[in-house]
Amino acid sequence: MRMYDLINKKKNKGELSKEEIEFIVEGFTKGDIPDYQMSAFLMAVCLNKLSHEETAYLTIAMANSGEQLDLSKIHGVKVDKHSTGGVGDKTSLILSPMVASLGIPVAKMSGRGLGHTGGTIDKLESIPSFSTELNSEQFVDNINRIKMAIVGQSANLAPADKKIYALRDVTATVDNMSLIASSIMSKKLASGADVIVLDVKTGSGAFMKKYEDSLALAKEMVQIGTLAGKPTYAIITDMNQPLGRAVGNALEVKEAIETLYGHGPEDLLEVSVILASYMLLGAGKVKSADEGRELLLETIKNKSALDKMAEFVRAQGGDSEFVYNPELLKLASIRYDVKSPFDGYVSEILTDEIGMASLVLGGGRATKDSKIDLSVGIIINKKLGDKVSKNETLATLYASDDEKRKEAKKRLINAYVISKDKPKRPPYIYSVVTKDGVKEI
Ligand code: URA
Repeated sequence: MRMYDLINKKKNKGELSKEEIEFIVEGFTKGDIPDYQMSAFLMAVCLNKLSHEETAYLTIAMANSGEQLDLSKIHGVKVDKHSTGGVGDKTSLILSPMVASLGIPVAKMSGRGLGHTGGTIDKLESIPSFSTELNSEQFVDNINRIKMAIVGQSANLAPADKKIYALRDVTATVDNMSLIASSIMSKKLASGADVIVLDVKTGSGAFMKKYEDSLALAKEMVQIGTLAGKPTYAIITDMNQPLGRAVGNALEVKEAIETLYGHGPEDLLEVSVILASYMLLGAGKVKSADEGRELLLETIKNKSALDKMAEFVRAQGGDSEFVYNPELLKLASIRYDVKSPFDGYVSEILTDEIGMASLVLGGGRATKDSKIDLSVGIIINKKLGDKVSKNETLATLYASDDEKRKEAKKRLINAYVISKDKPKRPPYIYSVVTKDGVKEI
């Protein structure tokens, strides 16, 4: 087999066999297939799509490309949650301690930023000396002891995805349903959790901008999880504006902690709670998502989720003082208010542009090897449906470099559409997809 022929086949809308997909995944993982050929193949996939069968073969080949984690030494039903990627999406930092504080083990493998979206691992690294690299013994041990660990995808876990993910990030080949589904599900299958909860984003900041596409992605992933024998739930949530108000690594950690204190934005709390409630349901802790909701809200009121977050930070080498005192987190020194050019209502937010503004400030990667500035970002002051007067602050930029600040400002102004008529605010949550069908919320 030759990679050239397989690229050509997909370019001409051909259907690849299981063996051909395995050849690509194995060859790329070993380094026999170079980045430039893989990039051409990924672009052909974006343009001509993969069938359900091809997507399933790709998922399994990536899951089998490295070690399969054995979590059998962890007591209880292990639950994991994964997001398709959003702007300001810091729900993992909120729901993991909530669920763990209720005694359910959270075994989380998280990613770094991808395209205009942020990643949990980058965010956590804004806590000084916090380590996202635990070996599998430490991972299992921490979960048994404190019910929670969040680590980066180890080099040995679905290494094919790790390499492909980094290449997609810089070749504009992220937003394809099959590539997203196989990337997420290969990691989930290899990482050994018993229950999988997926947060499938929809809207202007999501990779899937239309609800129907997000629904198709949710169904595809639930089907893959179910075939693999794992209870899988997908919640479709809104990404027509950043989730919460903070975008950028340290700023997002700070907002997550404020949410655990009970002072967080409502949309962020609601999305975190619904995802966590399905984690509890899947783990058999509650009989309904509504029952889960009550228990979860209590973990905020009685501060057990906040204390769990502090315990988790300590267990992974960080200083829990940053949890009890999030103002200590280092934030960039240039603060700049971006003002509204008109009177009116915020009728649309081009959320991926907000993500790009944060990336331009240095909060995300422009190339595979870029280093992230964890202290930069954006605080959103005006959200969809809000009234705004001329010269009122739309958002505040946190920058370390004035040139970057200027470019981010341009992007931010372009991201806001202000109109005369008051628009409807989008819902926070649209629907829940399970193996039994779709439930509208
Ligand atoms: N998250 C992943 O892990 N992979 C994707 O492709 C998109 C979001």
